Amino acid sequence: MDKIFITRLIPEFGLDRVRESFPTLDVWEEELPPSREMLIERARGADGLLCLLTDKIDGEVMDAIGKQLKVISSMSVGVDHIDVAAATARGIPVGNTPGVLTDATADQAFALMLSAARRVTESERFLRAGKWVTWQPSLLLGADFAGATLGVIGFGRIGQAVAKRAQGFDMRVLYHDPTASPAHNAQPVDLDTLLRESDFVSVHVPLTAQTKHFVNAEFLSKMKSNAVLVNTARGGVLDQTALYIALRSNRIFAAALDVTDPEPLPMDSPLLELENCIIVPHLGSASKKTRDMMSLLAAQNLIAGLKGERLPNCINPEVYKS
Ligand code: GLV
Repeated sequence: MDKIFITRLIPEFGLDRVRESFPTLDVWEEELPPSREMLIERARGADGLLCLLTDKIDGEVMDAIGKQLKVISSMSVGVDHIDVAAATARGIPVGNTPGVLTDATADQAFALMLSAARRVTESERFLRAGKWVTWQPSLLLGADFAGATLGVIGFGRIGQAVAKRAQGFDMRVLYHDPTASPAHNAQPVDLDTLLRESDFVSVHVPLTAQTKHFVNAEFLSKMKSNAVLVNTARGGVLDQTALYIALRSNRIFAAALDVTDPEPLPMDSPLLELENCIIVPHLGSASKKTRDMMSLLAAQNLIAGLKGERLPNCINPEVYKS
């Protein structure tokens, strides 16, 4: 019987699918993820590993699990927590869950963009603090959407879904992505043009060695002073110290972050002192249906890998060439 380790309790929707074929699976049921040591201990000898973005899976972990490991399936679209090159070198296919979280993540980017522009969280704090004394002509004024320019950085599935939503808000959309084709009336531009012209900038690039701190002091210095920055990609794409300086000095109007580095964000992070920074705990894909579908795709990848079949969503298809 194949041995399977699942690093957290995932929705029953996907878990049941795995159980049907592999009733003896082992699930880490704690609220917090297993430590590296615990993960290795529990996964040692596993044929299949189903992990989350909170588990760092590098070559050393793969070797400790053992040569019999046939598949690594992550219940996430991003795979920056997995050393994919190390998996490929060991002939292990890595699965992810693209597509099913596109709309939920684009909705979250839009929700954050609207909240930052219209100062929703700040004004709610204002109200709860008992500061609402009367309707005032100049109270908590924010930014307009209609007629504004949105710059989308990274024009993959999620970036395009954000551009599609922007059409309904009568926004002009620019995008920067040297590998993508135009869609949803969005216009391709170079990065400097995008930063110079955009009132809203939404980031949708994966975290790689190339995109680490891509949003840095220089990037922020090129944005408009009224601009809102939204990050629903990965925290590591953004230099948080540079962002703090830019927000504090009102170099840009506001930022809204679904992701931080590290996660969770330490409660003493200076970003939490700022009224013009919204931070939520990595909830881009957090709708019931989306998480169910992610668990299903992760289960399907795991099962296919265990059966020696091609993963329906494989991040390193080159493993099948050899
Ligand atoms: C979420 O961030 C994911 O990569 O699925």
